[in-house]
Amino acid sequence: MHVPTGRVDTMGVAERLRKLVRPDEGVIHASVYSDPEIYQLELSRIFARSWLLLCPDSQIPNAGDYFVSYMGEDPVIVVRQQDGTIAAFLNQCRHRGGALCRGESGNTKNFICTYHGWTYDTSGTLTSVPFEEVVYKAPLNRAKWSARRVPRLEVHHGLVFGCWDEDAPGFRESLGEAAVYFDLNFGRTEGGLATYGGVYKWRVKANWKLAAEQFTTDDFHFLTSHSSALTALTPEDAPPFSIVRGRVFTSSKGHGGGFLMERDSFATALATTTGQAASNYMMEVELPTVEQRYGEAMANATPTFANFFPSTGYLHANRTLRSWIPRGPDEMEIWAWTLFDRGSPDELMEERAKITAMTFGPAGIFEQDDTANWVDVQRPLGGAIARRTKLNMQMGEPTSFEGWPGMTGFDSSEFPARNFYSRWLQLLSTPNHALEASPTDDEECSHVR
Ligand code: FES
Ligand SMILES: [Fe+2]
Repeated sequence: MHVPTGRVDTMGVAERLRKLVRPDEGVIHASVYSDPEIYQLELSRIFARSWLLLCPDSQIPNAGDYFVSYMGEDPVIVVRQQDGTIAAFLNQCRHRGGALCRGESGNTKNFICTYHGWTYDTSGTLTSVPFEEVVYKAPLNRAKWSARRVPRLEVHHGLVFGCWDEDAPGFRESLGEAAVYFDLNFGRTEGGLATYGGVYKWRVKANWKLAAEQFTTDDFHFLTSHSSALTALTPEDAPPFSIVRGRVFTSSKGHGGGFLMERDSFATALATTTGQAASNYMMEVELPTVEQRYGEAMANATPTFANFFPSTGYLHANRTLRSWIPRGPDEMEIWAWTLFDRGSPDELMEERAKITAMTFGPAGIFEQDDTANWVDVQRPLGGAIARRTKLNMQMGEPTSFEGWPGMTGFDSSEFPARNFYSRWLQLLSTPNHALEASPTDDEECSHVR
Protein backbone atom coordinates (compact mmCIF):
# COMPACT_ATOMS: atom_id res chain seq x y z
CA MET A 1 0.00 0.00 0.00
CA HIS A 2 1.30 3.44 -0.85
CA VAL A 3 0.26 6.43 1.22
CA PRO A 4 1.78 9.66 -0.04
CA THR A 5 3.43 11.95 2.47
CA GLY A 6 2.13 15.48 3.01
CA ARG A 7 -1.46 15.74 1.83
CA VAL A 8 -3.04 12.30 1.98
CA ASP A 9 -5.17 10.95 -0.84
CA THR A 10 -8.03 10.20 1.54
CA MET A 11 -10.46 8.60 -0.89
CA GLY A 12 -7.78 6.35 -2.29
CA VAL A 13 -6.54 5.36 1.15
CA ALA A 14 -10.04 4.57 2.40
CA GLU A 15 -10.76 2.42 -0.62
CA ARG A 16 -7.53 0.48 -0.27
CA LEU A 17 -7.97 0.01 3.47
CA ARG A 18 -11.49 -1.35 2.95
CA LYS A 19 -10.03 -4.08 0.77
CA LEU A 20 -7.55 -5.05 3.47
CA VAL A 21 -9.91 -4.94 6.44
CA ARG A 22 -13.43 -6.28 6.00
CA PRO A 23 -15.04 -6.41 9.45
CA ASP A 24 -18.45 -7.41 8.04
CA GLU A 25 -16.94 -10.52 6.50
CA GLY A 26 -14.51 -11.16 9.37
CA VAL A 27 -11.50 -10.97 7.05
CA ILE A 28 -8.28 -9.13 7.94
CA HIS A 29 -5.29 -8.88 5.66
CA ALA A 30 -2.04 -9.75 7.52
CA SER A 31 -0.29 -6.67 6.14
CA VAL A 32 -2.17 -4.43 8.61
CA TYR A 33 0.31 -5.71 11.20
CA SER A 34 3.41 -4.89 9.18
CA ASP A 35 2.78 -2.14 6.62
CA PRO A 36 4.89 0.93 7.51
CA GLU A 37 2.53 3.32 5.73
CA ILE A 38 -0.50 2.03 7.60
CA TYR A 39 1.53 2.45 10.77
CA GLN A 40 2.20 6.12 9.99
CA LEU A 41 -1.51 6.65 9.38
CA GLU A 42 -2.29 5.03 12.74
CA LEU A 43 0.02 7.49 14.51
CA SER A 44 -1.66 10.55 12.99
CA ARG A 45 -5.25 9.37 12.64
CA ILE A 46 -5.65 7.18 15.73
CA PHE A 47 -3.00 7.99 18.35
CA ALA A 48 -2.95 11.76 17.66
CA ARG A 49 -6.71 12.09 18.19
CA SER A 50 -7.92 9.31 20.52
CA TRP A 51 -8.08 9.34 24.29
CA LEU A 52 -4.98 7.51 25.54
CA LEU A 53 -3.99 6.31 29.00
CA LEU A 54 -1.11 8.40 30.37
CA CYS A 55 -0.76 6.87 33.86
CA PRO A 56 -2.67 6.22 37.08
CA ASP A 57 -2.89 9.52 38.99
CA SER A 58 -1.44 7.75 42.05
CA GLN A 59 1.82 7.74 40.10
CA ILE A 60 2.06 11.51 40.74
CA PRO A 61 0.44 12.14 44.16
CA ASN A 62 2.31 15.33 45.18
CA ALA A 63 2.85 18.78 43.64
CA GLY A 64 5.88 18.61 41.34
CA ASP A 65 5.64 14.84 40.84
CA TYR A 66 6.11 13.92 37.19
CA PHE A 67 5.85 10.80 35.04
CA VAL A 68 7.10 10.55 31.46
CA SER A 69 4.58 8.74 29.27
CA TYR A 70 3.82 8.27 25.58
CA MET A 71 0.96 9.14 23.25
CA GLY A 72 1.74 6.93 20.30
CA GLU A 73 5.42 7.69 19.69
CA ASP A 74 5.13 11.21 21.14
CA PRO A 75 6.76 11.45 24.59
CA VAL A 76 4.82 13.54 27.11
CA ILE A 77 5.55 14.64 30.66
CA VAL A 78 2.61 14.37 33.06
CA VAL A 79 2.99 16.65 36.09
CA ARG A 80 1.00 17.34 39.26
CA GLN A 81 0.62 21.12 39.65
CA GLN A 82 0.72 23.16 42.87
CA ASP A 83 -3.08 23.45 42.87
CA GLY A 84 -3.49 19.67 42.58
CA THR A 85 -4.50 19.64 38.91
CA ILE A 86 -2.53 17.75 36.30
CA ALA A 87 -0.80 19.12 33.19
CA ALA A 88 0.86 17.22 30.36
CA PHE A 89 3.13 18.50 27.61
CA LEU A 90 5.45 17.22 24.96
CA ASN A 91 8.89 16.19 26.20
CA GLN A 92 10.49 18.26 23.46
CA CYS A 93 12.37 21.51 23.92
CA ARG A 94 11.20 24.34 21.65
CA HIS A 95 14.79 25.43 20.97
CA ARG A 96 16.44 22.62 19.03
CA GLY A 97 14.17 19.77 20.08
CA GLY A 98 16.13 18.29 22.99
CA ALA A 99 14.49 16.31 25.80
CA LEU A 100 13.13 18.38 28.66
CA CYS A 101 13.41 15.41 30.94
CA ARG A 102 15.61 12.34 30.68
CA GLY A 103 14.23 10.73 33.83
CA GLU A 104 11.21 8.45 33.87
CA SER A 105 9.55 9.84 37.02
CA GLY A 106 10.40 12.00 40.03
CA ASN A 107 9.69 15.37 41.63
CA THR A 108 10.89 18.75 40.37
CA LYS A 109 10.28 22.50 40.35
CA ASN A 110 11.23 22.91 36.70
CA PHE A 111 12.57 21.12 33.65
CA ILE A 112 15.94 22.27 32.30
CA CYS A 113 16.79 21.09 28.82
CA THR A 114 20.20 19.44 29.04
CA TYR A 115 21.22 20.63 25.58
CA HIS A 116 21.46 24.44 26.06
CA GLY A 117 19.54 25.07 29.26
CA TRP A 118 16.16 26.48 28.25
CA THR A 119 14.04 26.11 31.38
CA TYR A 120 10.33 25.33 31.71
CA ASP A 121 8.07 25.30 34.77
CA THR A 122 5.92 22.31 35.74
CA SER A 123 3.14 23.42 33.41
CA GLY A 124 5.53 23.45 30.44
CA THR A 125 5.78 27.23 30.22
CA LEU A 126 9.16 28.56 29.13
CA THR A 127 10.54 30.54 32.07
CA SER A 128 14.19 31.28 31.28
CA VAL A 129 16.82 31.07 28.59
CA PRO A 130 20.54 31.28 29.43
CA PHE A 131 22.17 34.61 28.40
CA GLU A 132 18.98 35.55 26.60
CA GLU A 133 19.63 39.30 26.61
CA VAL A 134 23.10 38.73 25.11
CA VAL A 135 22.40 36.11 22.44
CA TYR A 136 18.96 37.18 21.13
CA LYS A 137 18.19 40.55 19.63
CA ALA A 138 14.88 40.72 21.56
CA PRO A 139 13.33 38.74 24.44
CA LEU A 140 11.72 35.50 23.28
CA ASN A 141 7.95 35.29 23.33
CA ARG A 142 7.42 32.96 26.31
CA ALA A 143 3.88 31.97 25.31
CA LYS A 144 4.88 31.11 21.77
CA TRP A 145 7.96 29.07 22.70
CA SER A 146 6.60 27.07 25.62
CA ALA A 147 6.30 23.28 25.46
CA ARG A 148 3.32 21.96 23.47
CA ARG A 149 0.55 21.25 25.95
CA VAL A 150 -1.70 18.21 25.65
CA PRO A 151 -4.95 20.18 25.33
CA ARG A 152 -7.34 17.58 26.77
CA LEU A 153 -6.80 15.72 30.04
CA GLU A 154 -9.39 13.86 32.10
CA VAL A 155 -9.12 11.65 35.17
CA HIS A 156 -11.55 8.76 35.61
CA HIS A 157 -11.47 6.31 38.53
CA GLY A 158 -7.88 7.35 39.22
CA LEU A 159 -6.63 6.95 35.63
CA VAL A 160 -5.30 9.93 33.65
CA PHE A 161 -6.26 10.06 29.97
CA GLY A 162 -5.05 12.59 27.41
CA CYS A 163 -6.09 13.52 23.88
CA TRP A 164 -4.40 15.81 21.33
CA ASP A 165 -7.63 16.55 19.44
CA GLU A 166 -9.28 19.68 20.79
CA ASP A 167 -12.47 18.89 18.88
CA ALA A 168 -12.80 15.27 20.00
CA PRO A 169 -15.77 14.31 22.18
CA GLY A 170 -15.04 14.04 25.91
CA PHE A 171 -13.64 10.82 27.32
CA ARG A 172 -16.95 9.36 28.50
CA GLU A 173 -18.65 10.19 25.24
CA SER A 174 -15.84 8.44 23.43
CA LEU A 175 -16.69 5.28 25.36
CA GLY A 176 -20.18 5.17 23.82
CA GLU A 177 -22.22 2.20 25.07
CA ALA A 178 -19.07 0.84 26.73
CA ALA A 179 -19.21 3.48 29.50
CA VAL A 180 -20.91 1.11 31.94
CA TYR A 181 -18.36 -1.60 31.19
CA PHE A 182 -15.57 0.89 31.78
CA ASP A 183 -17.11 1.64 35.20
CA LEU A 184 -17.54 -2.06 35.98
CA ASN A 185 -13.84 -2.59 35.32
CA PHE A 186 -12.36 0.51 36.92
CA GLY A 187 -15.06 2.05 39.13
CA ARG A 188 -16.00 -0.88 41.33
CA THR A 189 -15.49 1.00 44.58
CA GLU A 190 -15.91 4.67 45.51
CA GLY A 191 -12.27 5.70 45.78
CA GLY A 192 -11.12 4.58 42.35
CA LEU A 193 -7.89 2.76 41.69
CA ALA A 194 -4.30 3.28 42.74
CA THR A 195 -1.17 1.58 41.53
CA TYR A 196 0.86 -0.67 43.78
CA GLY A 197 4.56 -0.15 43.08
CA GLY A 198 5.79 1.31 39.81
CA VAL A 199 5.38 0.41 36.19
CA TYR A 200 6.76 -2.59 34.31
CA LYS A 201 8.03 -1.80 30.81
CA TRP A 202 9.14 -4.26 28.20
CA ARG A 203 9.33 -4.57 24.43
CA VAL A 204 7.75 -7.23 22.26
CA LYS A 205 8.51 -7.76 18.59
CA ALA A 206 4.89 -7.60 17.54
CA ASN A 207 2.43 -4.97 16.26
CA TRP A 208 0.44 -3.18 18.99
CA LYS A 209 -2.92 -4.31 17.54
CA LEU A 210 -2.16 -7.97 18.28
CA ALA A 211 -2.33 -7.21 22.00
CA ALA A 212 -5.21 -4.74 21.69
CA GLU A 213 -7.43 -7.07 19.67
CA GLN A 214 -6.73 -10.01 21.97
CA PHE A 215 -7.75 -7.98 25.03
CA THR A 216 -10.84 -6.78 23.13
CA THR A 217 -12.15 -10.18 22.24
CA ASP A 218 -10.16 -13.28 22.86
CA ASP A 219 -11.02 -15.72 25.62
CA PHE A 220 -10.75 -18.56 23.16
CA HIS A 221 -6.96 -18.73 23.36
CA PHE A 222 -7.03 -19.36 27.08
CA LEU A 223 -7.30 -23.13 27.29
CA THR A 224 -4.82 -23.77 24.49
CA SER A 225 -2.22 -21.06 25.00
CA HIS A 226 -2.18 -21.22 28.78
CA SER A 227 -2.69 -24.93 29.32
CA SER A 228 0.74 -25.46 30.94
CA ALA A 229 0.37 -22.44 33.20
CA LEU A 230 -3.14 -23.53 34.19
CA THR A 231 -1.92 -27.04 35.00
CA ALA A 232 0.87 -25.61 37.14
CA LEU A 233 -1.52 -23.41 39.11
CA THR A 234 -4.42 -25.82 39.52
CA PRO A 235 -4.63 -28.34 42.37
CA GLU A 236 -4.51 -31.97 41.21
CA ASP A 237 -8.00 -32.78 42.46
CA ALA A 238 -9.63 -29.80 40.70
CA PRO A 239 -12.05 -30.61 37.84
CA PRO A 240 -10.57 -30.15 34.37
CA PHE A 241 -11.06 -26.76 32.73
CA SER A 242 -13.52 -26.55 29.90
CA ILE A 243 -14.73 -23.69 27.75
CA VAL A 244 -16.61 -21.16 29.89
CA ARG A 245 -19.60 -19.35 28.45
CA GLY A 246 -19.11 -15.88 29.82
CA ARG A 247 -20.23 -12.75 28.06
CA VAL A 248 -18.48 -10.24 25.86
CA PHE A 249 -19.39 -6.68 25.02
CA THR A 250 -18.40 -4.16 22.41
CA SER A 251 -19.43 -0.67 21.40
CA SER A 252 -19.54 1.29 18.18
CA LYS A 253 -16.38 3.05 19.35
CA GLY A 254 -14.30 -0.13 19.16
CA HIS A 255 -14.03 -1.02 22.84
CA GLY A 256 -14.54 -4.59 24.00
CA GLY A 257 -14.05 -7.13 26.73
CA GLY A 258 -15.44 -10.06 28.67
CA PHE A 259 -17.13 -11.08 31.90
CA LEU A 260 -17.57 -14.32 33.83
CA MET A 261 -21.07 -14.76 35.13
CA GLU A 262 -20.63 -16.95 38.21
CA ARG A 263 -19.15 -14.99 40.99
CA ASP A 264 -19.07 -17.86 43.51
CA SER A 265 -16.97 -20.08 41.31
CA PHE A 266 -14.81 -17.09 40.51
CA ALA A 267 -14.26 -16.48 44.23
CA THR A 268 -13.24 -20.12 44.64
CA ALA A 269 -10.81 -19.84 41.74
CA LEU A 270 -9.40 -16.65 43.23
CA ALA A 271 -8.88 -18.37 46.58
CA THR A 272 -7.01 -21.19 44.83
CA THR A 273 -4.78 -19.00 42.71
CA THR A 274 -4.25 -15.87 44.77
CA GLY A 275 -5.07 -16.83 48.36
CA GLN A 276 -8.03 -16.72 50.69
CA ALA A 277 -7.53 -13.05 51.62
CA ALA A 278 -8.14 -11.96 48.01
CA SER A 279 -11.25 -14.08 47.79
CA ASN A 280 -12.57 -12.76 51.12
CA TYR A 281 -11.97 -9.15 50.02
CA MET A 282 -13.87 -9.77 46.82
CA MET A 283 -16.87 -11.35 48.57
CA GLU A 284 -17.02 -9.09 51.62
CA VAL A 285 -15.95 -5.66 50.32
CA GLU A 286 -15.80 -5.43 46.55
CA LEU A 287 -18.97 -7.21 45.46
CA PRO A 288 -21.37 -5.61 47.98
CA THR A 289 -20.09 -2.22 46.78
CA VAL A 290 -20.53 -3.15 43.12
CA GLU A 291 -24.04 -4.40 43.87
CA GLN A 292 -24.90 -1.13 45.56
CA ARG A 293 -23.49 0.95 42.71
CA TYR A 294 -24.60 -1.05 39.67
CA GLY A 295 -27.26 -3.54 40.82
CA GLU A 296 -27.27 -7.26 41.53
CA ALA A 297 -27.13 -8.45 37.93
CA MET A 298 -23.94 -6.57 37.26
CA ALA A 299 -22.40 -7.67 40.57
CA ASN A 300 -22.70 -11.25 39.32
CA ALA A 301 -20.62 -10.35 36.29
CA THR A 302 -16.91 -10.40 37.01
CA PRO A 303 -14.79 -8.51 34.48
CA THR A 304 -12.03 -10.67 33.07
CA PHE A 305 -10.42 -8.91 30.10
CA ALA A 306 -11.00 -5.57 28.35
CA ASN A 307 -9.50 -3.17 25.87
CA PHE A 308 -10.62 0.43 25.62
CA PHE A 309 -9.88 1.66 22.11
CA PRO A 310 -7.26 1.98 21.03
CA SER A 311 -4.63 0.88 23.47
CA THR A 312 -5.70 0.58 27.12
CA GLY A 313 -5.92 -3.04 28.26
CA TYR A 314 -7.00 -4.41 31.62
CA LEU A 315 -7.35 -7.76 33.34
CA HIS A 316 -9.44 -7.09 36.43
CA ALA A 317 -8.95 -10.54 37.93
CA ASN A 318 -5.20 -10.16 37.64
CA ARG A 319 -5.19 -6.44 38.37
CA THR A 320 -2.90 -5.63 35.48
CA LEU A 321 -3.48 -2.37 33.55
CA ARG A 322 -1.79 -2.11 30.15
CA SER A 323 -0.81 0.55 27.70
CA TRP A 324 0.14 -0.86 24.28
CA ILE A 325 2.68 1.67 23.05
CA PRO A 326 3.51 1.45 19.34
CA ARG A 327 7.19 1.26 18.43
CA GLY A 328 7.06 0.79 14.69
CA PRO A 329 4.88 -1.54 12.63
CA ASP A 330 6.50 -4.64 14.07
CA GLU A 331 7.21 -3.75 17.69
CA MET A 332 5.40 -2.48 20.77
CA GLU A 333 6.33 -1.54 24.27
CA ILE A 334 4.06 -2.87 26.98
CA TRP A 335 3.66 -0.76 30.12
CA ALA A 336 1.88 -2.53 32.96
CA TRP A 337 0.71 -1.24 36.32
CA THR A 338 -0.69 -3.35 39.16
CA LEU A 339 -3.92 -1.72 40.34
CA PHE A 340 -5.94 -1.94 43.54
CA ASP A 341 -8.98 -0.25 44.98
CA ARG A 342 -7.72 2.74 46.91
CA GLY A 343 -7.63 1.85 50.59
CA SER A 344 -7.18 -1.92 50.13
CA PRO A 345 -5.33 -3.61 53.04
CA ASP A 346 -1.53 -3.57 52.54
CA GLU A 347 -1.13 -7.34 53.04
CA LEU A 348 -3.72 -8.00 50.37
CA MET A 349 -2.00 -5.72 47.86
CA GLU A 350 1.41 -7.18 48.63
CA GLU A 351 0.23 -10.74 48.23
CA ARG A 352 -1.73 -10.11 45.04
CA ALA A 353 1.02 -7.97 43.51
CA LYS A 354 3.34 -10.98 43.79
CA ILE A 355 0.78 -13.13 42.00
CA THR A 356 0.32 -10.48 39.31
CA ALA A 357 4.09 -10.41 38.76
CA MET A 358 4.21 -14.19 38.61
CA THR A 359 1.36 -14.44 36.10
CA PHE A 360 1.34 -11.19 34.09
CA GLY A 361 4.66 -9.48 34.87
CA PRO A 362 7.20 -9.28 32.01
CA ALA A 363 8.33 -12.82 32.83
CA GLY A 364 4.91 -13.97 34.06
CA ILE A 365 3.89 -17.49 33.13
CA PHE A 366 0.74 -16.31 31.33
CA GLU A 367 2.41 -13.25 29.82
CA GLN A 368 5.09 -15.42 28.24
CA ASP A 369 2.43 -17.55 26.55
CA ASP A 370 0.72 -14.49 25.09
CA THR A 371 3.96 -12.83 24.03
CA ALA A 372 5.12 -15.98 22.24
CA ASN A 373 1.88 -16.02 20.24
CA TRP A 374 2.07 -12.37 19.23
CA VAL A 375 5.71 -12.76 18.16
CA ASP A 376 4.79 -15.91 16.22
CA VAL A 377 2.12 -13.97 14.32
CA GLN A 378 4.52 -11.11 13.56
CA ARG A 379 7.65 -13.02 12.57
CA PRO A 380 6.46 -14.48 9.24
CA LEU A 381 5.22 -11.07 8.08
CA GLY A 382 8.74 -10.29 6.87
CA GLY A 383 7.95 -12.80 4.13
CA ALA A 384 6.46 -11.70 0.82
CA ILE A 385 3.79 -14.40 0.85
CA ALA A 386 2.83 -14.42 4.55
CA ARG A 387 2.15 -10.71 4.62
CA ARG A 388 -0.26 -11.10 1.70
CA THR A 389 -2.42 -13.66 3.52
CA LYS A 390 -6.01 -13.10 4.61
CA LEU A 391 -6.71 -14.03 8.23
CA ASN A 392 -10.01 -15.19 9.70
CA MET A 393 -11.93 -13.31 12.40
CA GLN A 394 -15.40 -14.83 11.91
CA MET A 395 -16.03 -16.50 15.26
CA GLY A 396 -19.27 -15.73 17.11
CA GLU A 397 -22.29 -13.50 16.58
CA PRO A 398 -23.96 -10.98 18.92
CA THR A 399 -26.75 -12.03 21.29
CA SER A 400 -28.77 -9.60 23.41
CA PHE A 401 -28.84 -9.82 27.18
CA GLU A 402 -31.43 -7.81 29.04
CA GLY A 403 -29.95 -4.78 30.74
CA TRP A 404 -26.61 -5.03 28.94
CA PRO A 405 -26.00 -2.03 26.69
CA GLY A 406 -24.09 -2.06 23.42
CA MET A 407 -23.50 -5.18 21.41
CA THR A 408 -23.14 -8.30 23.56
CA GLY A 409 -22.77 -12.02 23.12
CA PHE A 410 -21.27 -15.17 24.49
CA ASP A 411 -17.58 -15.66 24.51
CA SER A 412 -15.75 -17.01 22.70
CA SER A 413 -16.66 -14.50 20.02
CA GLU A 414 -14.66 -12.31 17.72
CA PHE A 415 -17.31 -9.71 16.93
CA PRO A 416 -15.79 -7.28 19.49
CA ALA A 417 -12.53 -7.44 17.52
CA ARG A 418 -14.47 -6.99 14.28
CA ASN A 419 -15.90 -3.84 15.88
CA PHE A 420 -12.40 -2.77 16.90
CA TYR A 421 -11.45 -2.93 13.20
CA SER A 422 -14.58 -1.08 12.10
CA ARG A 423 -13.56 1.79 14.34
CA TRP A 424 -9.93 1.49 13.19
CA LEU A 425 -11.09 1.64 9.57
CA GLN A 426 -13.34 4.60 10.22
CA LEU A 427 -10.57 6.64 11.86
CA LEU A 428 -7.92 5.67 9.33
CA SER A 429 -10.23 6.67 6.49
CA THR A 430 -10.87 10.13 7.97
CA PRO A 431 -8.15 12.76 7.69
CA ASN A 432 -6.77 14.38 10.80
CA HIS A 433 -7.07 17.94 9.49
CA ALA A 434 -4.94 19.42 12.26
CA LEU A 435 -1.98 17.41 11.01
CA GLU A 436 -2.71 16.84 7.35
CA ALA A 437 -4.23 20.07 6.00
CA SER A 438 -0.82 21.35 5.01
CA PRO A 439 2.73 20.85 6.25
CA THR A 440 2.73 24.21 8.02
CA ASP A 441 -0.79 24.68 9.40
CA ASP A 442 0.06 22.59 12.38
CA GLU A 443 2.77 25.05 13.42
CA GLU A 444 0.30 27.74 14.39
CA CYS A 445 -2.42 25.47 15.76
CA SER A 446 -3.73 26.26 19.18
CA HIS A 447 -1.67 23.50 20.82
CA VAL A 448 1.13 26.04 20.85
CA ARG A 449 0.79 28.01 24.02
S1 FES B 1 17.58 22.10 22.56
FE1 FES B 1 16.80 22.63 24.46
S2 FES B 1 17.92 24.34 25.07
FE2 FES B 1 18.64 23.89 23.09
FE1 LIG C 1 -3.59 -14.88 27.43
